[in-house]
Amino acid sequence: MFKKSLSIALTSLIAVSALTTFASADIKKGQKYYLKDCKKCHGNGTKGAAMMDQDEWADMFANDNEEIKAVHEDSEDAKAIKYFESKKFEKHAPHLKDFLYEYGADSGNVPACG
Ligand code: HEC
Repeated sequence: MFKKSLSIALTSLIAVSALTTFASADIKKGQKYYLKDCKKCHGNGTKGAAMMDQDEWADMFANDNEEIKAVHEDSEDAKAIKYFESKKFEKHAPHLKDFLYEYGADSGNVPACG
């Protein structure tokens, strides 16, 4: 009896920590993609994420990333336009959003190494 409830407790503990790892994996991925994709134009991750607060980042990536694409179309920066039209951006976008949202200007969070 005791053994069984202990093993249930352990199993749920493992499940919870696995979930936590999974959730932060996207933020880590997003940070990696930010450094690869955005840093050359917008500086390090701390600076980049602080461009917007959390609500603004959510808006930027709403409706299939409509707003962040529009901002770069308007910039008339050929490299930026090309990147935001690429499959690579589509693929990275959900992770980028997780990272940028997590460290948005009003989040109080700062990435460990950016
Ligand atoms: C090739 C250069 C380039 C790349 C790559 C690039 N941007 Fe930009 N970005 C610009 C330019 C140019 C503007 C418009 C001028 C400005 O606001 O700095 C801009 C504007 C923005 C703005 C609006 C800033 C504001 O105050 O309105 C955000 C947010 C932004 N970029 C985020 C990103 C993110 C996130 C990435 C990576 C996924 C990225 N950019 C990649 C060049 C780039």
